[in-house]
Amino acid sequence: MSDWWRDAVIYQVYPRSWADADGDGIGDLRGIAARLPHLVELGVDAVWFSPFYRSPQHDAGYDVADYRDVDPVFGTLADVDAVLREAAELGIKVIVDLVPNHTSSEHPWFREALASPPGSPARERYVFRDGKGPDGAQPPNDWRSVFGGQAWTRLTGPDGAPEQWYLHLFDTTQPDLNWEHPQVRAEFESIIDFWLDRGVAGFRVDVAHSLVKAEGLPDFPDAPAVVAGSVEQAPYFDQDGVHEIYRRWRALLDARGEPARIMCAEAWVTPAERAARYIRPDEFHQAFNFDILECPWRAEHLRTTIADSLAATSSVGASATWVLSNHDVVRHASRLGLPPGTPRPQGIGPGDPRPDPVAGLARARAATLLVLSLPGAAYLYQGEELGLPEAMDLPPEVRQDPIFERSGGTDAGRDGCRVPMAWEADAPALGFSPSGASWLPQPHEYRDLAVDRQRGVAGTTYEMYRAALRIRRETGLGSAAITPLDLGPDVVAYEHACPDGVVLGVTNLGAEPVDLPDGEVLLRSDTGTAQGPAHVGTDVTVWVRRE
Ligand code: NOJ
Repeated sequence: MSDWWRDAVIYQVYPRSWADADGDGIGDLRGIAARLPHLVELGVDAVWFSPFYRSPQHDAGYDVADYRDVDPVFGTLADVDAVLREAAELGIKVIVDLVPNHTSSEHPWFREALASPPGSPARERYVFRDGKGPDGAQPPNDWRSVFGGQAWTRLTGPDGAPEQWYLHLFDTTQPDLNWEHPQVRAEFESIIDFWLDRGVAGFRVDVAHSLVKAEGLPDFPDAPAVVAGSVEQAPYFDQDGVHEIYRRWRALLDARGEPARIMCAEAWVTPAERAARYIRPDEFHQAFNFDILECPWRAEHLRTTIADSLAATSSVGASATWVLSNHDVVRHASRLGLPPGTPRPQGIGPGDPRPDPVAGLARARAATLLVLSLPGAAYLYQGEELGLPEAMDLPPEVRQDPIFERSGGTDAGRDGCRVPMAWEADAPALGFSPSGASWLPQPHEYRDLAVDRQRGVAGTTYEMYRAALRIRRETGLGSAAITPLDLGPDVVAYEHACPDGVVLGVTNLGAEPVDLPDGEVLLRSDTGTAQGPAHVGTDVTVWVRRE
């Protein structure tokens, strides 16, 4: 079977924030269709769309009420078909999001469960339990929601009396499904077929490590208040039983033949060996490498993370899947500029430590060239090709992430990385929407970073990304074996054995410049002037073709 996915570069579109055609200030599918040529200009292989399904949008579409229909805010099924058709014409594969851990509380199954008495079959598809204590007033266990607060909500019966509790690892409007139930399993296999029939190239699977819960739902007293990343040994994460679900799904994908249809796991699982279990040959094709995303900007940490990730993925015959930003984390142009030692935040709001924007962007560019040189696939998040920073000054009244509300406003949440794209500096809403509306206000710094300000201008972040993707493709960097080079404690450097010769990648995290290796400079993350073109300066990556 073809293995296009092993070194593919895949661009994440967050539909509500990419392009708005109808002027309501929320991105939509017709907007996406019109902007698809951007992906060709950038040079990616595929696009992943965050959910556009019918949803009350309590968690920006990760609360799905109908998995086979499109939310009117984004358009219609016909609009999806048009996007799929146009993407195919442009040679871009399309991956859609699949959200199997929970439905929306407005899903017909959950409505039916609410209308049915305790113990009825309709409740079996979710995780309903009686409460603890004489009157059942205590939740069934001590699990905390990933978004803060308890993971259980108590129902009120038709007579107004308190009733059973239901589990929601996320928002109250996202009840967890019971994956022991055969109907749940059958339903998702049918949903996968539905989208494969429409022509998608694969699925990104939401919280792929959480579907199965430990037998008896045991307490988890060590849970952190808010989960910003991996949690080891939680009784609701990374249970062995999840893998058989994915083996079934893999068989469905493989049955479609060429070109390979793929699935990518969003599984915040550590250590790397546990995460690698998701990408065994009969399971997922890819799993996001969140270790690199969480890695501090320290050479020794990066070297270890890269080595461990490559060892773990190759131990199961898979390739690595690098990622630095997505719609759940602080954009890496800001994250990497935070004061050293700052724990990775969910968002940045008033009162939180602020990044150094200059160092942040320099490191982000260097980090991007580092990961794009590595063997494996890479995911890019919309706007990172422009070097967009996190939006940190969003007023509380516009914030929509349930994390902000559930934390009582103490955690800014993820809205700051979800602000709409900057296309044209002088157009309404920077070209995002013809009406000038934007569901989250765009920071004023986005104007100078708009695509049309960067296109064709040497040294811009956008042109660096385009060059990196072109060179990566031309040299075969994404599938070249690497050997680490020792150029000092603060340097991360590899020799890449490309089909037509050796490419050296050097990332300098130290205060002192290091000598540029001999050869032809293919690309550098700075303009080459800060510490002299003969050097790799602080927070700079250079790619050199050895002569
Ligand atoms: C992970 C998604 O990426 C995130 O945006 C969402 O809130 C949770 N899963 C719940 O679906």
